[in-house]
Amino acid sequence: MKKVLAIYPGSFDPVTNGHLDLIERGAKIFDRLIVSILRNFEKEPLFTLDERIEMLREVTSPWPNVEVDVFSGLLVEYARLREANVILRGIRAVSDYEYELQMAMMNRRLKPDVETVFMLPAAAYSFLSSHLVREIAQLGGPMTGLVPAAVEQRLRAKVL
Ligand code: PNS
Repeated sequence: MKKVLAIYPGSFDPVTNGHLDLIERGAKIFDRLIVSILRNFEKEPLFTLDERIEMLREVTSPWPNVEVDVFSGLLVEYARLREANVILRGIRAVSDYEYELQMAMMNRRLKPDVETVFMLPAAAYSFLSSHLVREIAQLGGPMTGLVPAAVEQRLRAKVL
């Protein structure tokens, strides 16, 4: 039977419990899942690429079929190189849909044989984003339940 290899792309600056929830769901239904960090030269991230790789490796270690990788350039070109047949994306609320639809349709136009699969994170994470987590950390707010403990520690150290 054909194996399904999915890519879960994103900035993961930093990985949140919402991302982790999606990774857990994806790891259950795909044979392999590659969580891939975009190397974005335009954005100034809070965490370096190496820090984001380390954090993702640490928090995804319970799933043997999950791999952490980095990509740059076109996502569909990276999917071709990795021989992936699925792009996994999470939709938290209707507000995510328009941007995600646009990306999925453009990716389909660029590479019709790669299917975008949308999954819904747990309702408890429907308001959660890396952007808000960074802001709460920078303003000294509580982060319990928003990010894994290891990420919380690193966030605290980063904004000290
Ligand atoms: O988690 P994010 O930051 O919203 O992820 C956005 C990401 C990485 C999925 C998107 O920016 C992307 O795929 N970038 C790669 C460049 C590309 O392929 N652009 C065309 C997309 S239609």
